[in-house]
Amino acid sequence: MTEHWTPASWRAKPAKHMPSDYPDPAALSQVEQTLRRMPPLVFAGEARRLKALLGDVAAGKAFLLQGGDCAESFKEFHADNIRDTFRLILQMAVVLTFAGGKPVVKVGRMAGQFGKPRSSEVEVQANVALPSYRGDNINGMEFTPEARTPDPQRLIQAYGQSAATLNLLRAFAGGGYADLHNIHRWTLGFVADSPQGARYREVAEKISETLMFMEAIGVTPESQPALHQVEFFTSHEGLLLNFEEAMTRVDSTSGDWYDTSAHLLWIGERTRDLAGAHVEYFKGIKNPIGLKCGPTLEADELSRLIDVLNPKNEAGRLTLYGRFGYDKIEDRLPRLLKATQASGRNVVWAIDPMHGNTLTAANGYKTRPFDRILSEVKSFVEVCKAEGVHPGGVHLEMTGQNVTECLGGARAVAEGDLADRYHTHCDPRLNGEQALDLAFLVAEKLKDERSGAARRATAV
Ligand code: TRP
Ligand code: MN
Repeated sequence: MTEHWTPASWRAKPAKHMPSDYPDPAALSQVEQTLRRMPPLVFAGEARRLKALLGDVAAGKAFLLQGGDCAESFKEFHADNIRDTFRLILQMAVVLTFAGGKPVVKVGRMAGQFGKPRSSEVEVQANVALPSYRGDNINGMEFTPEARTPDPQRLIQAYGQSAATLNLLRAFAGGGYADLHNIHRWTLGFVADSPQGARYREVAEKISETLMFMEAIGVTPESQPALHQVEFFTSHEGLLLNFEEAMTRVDSTSGDWYDTSAHLLWIGERTRDLAGAHVEYFKGIKNPIGLKCGPTLEADELSRLIDVLNPKNEAGRLTLYGRFGYDKIEDRLPRLLKATQASGRNVVWAIDPMHGNTLTAANGYKTRPFDRILSEVKSFVEVCKAEGVHPGGVHLEMTGQNVTECLGGARAVAEGDLADRYHTHCDPRLNGEQALDLAFLVAEKLKDERSGAARRATAV
């Protein structure tokens, strides 16, 4: 039970998807020691602030938008990549705020998203078997025995990269880059260039008019600092517990333990065992946390996980991310929603429409069709509505870069295009245009729901 919880108590439990083959365990301990002395990346007060905002999402008063790379990498680490993904999240946030008529809580899957659970411990190429690539914080992607051997020094590099990324994000969020007018101007450029521009123009123009109206009545960045800054939070899967443990600190204000490596951490679909190390670790930290819920999760198991992870039923503590696949969501989600509704659990329900919709194209590329991603989001909104649950948000793998990893979108990426700019270190991401396409199409859905609700309200 929690009485015996310590940041290290996970070590007594079975830990899945963590490397057990560090050649020099003493070197690993030394790195953990070094990390324990490093400054926290985030402050407990910020994590509490995010928890409060997610509490608003749980109450149906806001939406969550969370996105970023499947896996960050040392090679793709560049200010432009950070800037472009940050800008993209904000562009999407403007569209969704407008369409949903509610604030959008902005969370990057950034500044620490390195480790990857892999379906196999080994990878075989031309009859040679080597340990699988597990993310740049553990080993290298190159198919050589040296690269694939876990190297604890990579954790120090991952810490440094996370700190630098977070520093830039904080500068962008507070320093004027996030100005609402700026962000919307970029969106107008996207709409002008998009093959689907005509479809998006109406919403974009309404936003422009609203901004003009606000300006005319004196609601300007000078009078309202909130117009040119945003609250922006970071998140990653809490997979490599050695690292998370080393970043776990007591908050002097509350006396509680916080994982100071990110504002929000989540438990992956493959590590959510009730008796496992990950659930044990997550029990004791006070950050807002997430749990991925895939097609095999049954309602009673979900209820037990919620009992353990959010025993006080605090709003904003726990976000559940459905990730079923466009063809399974309508079958799997209702029973889970019923379970949380019936027992009055304060949770955020969000959708990860990426991980259930991965397939391998005929030419061998792992990809995801845009239409299936969109379809899973739309089904999510509909199923939530039918069950009387707030469709709280989306969790996306995306990048501001112009990659060709997912199929489709308004400027349709075809199978033959995948080879052009396929840069991901793990799963296929939506590119900038596809992500904005998605935001506009989800906005249409939210708007329909809103006008449907208004019609129903006037009918009675
Ligand atoms: N600060 C407000 C918010 O976060 C308004 C805002 C400023 C905004 N810049 C933004 C909203 C960029 C979305 C995107 O909601
Ligand atoms: Mn992924």
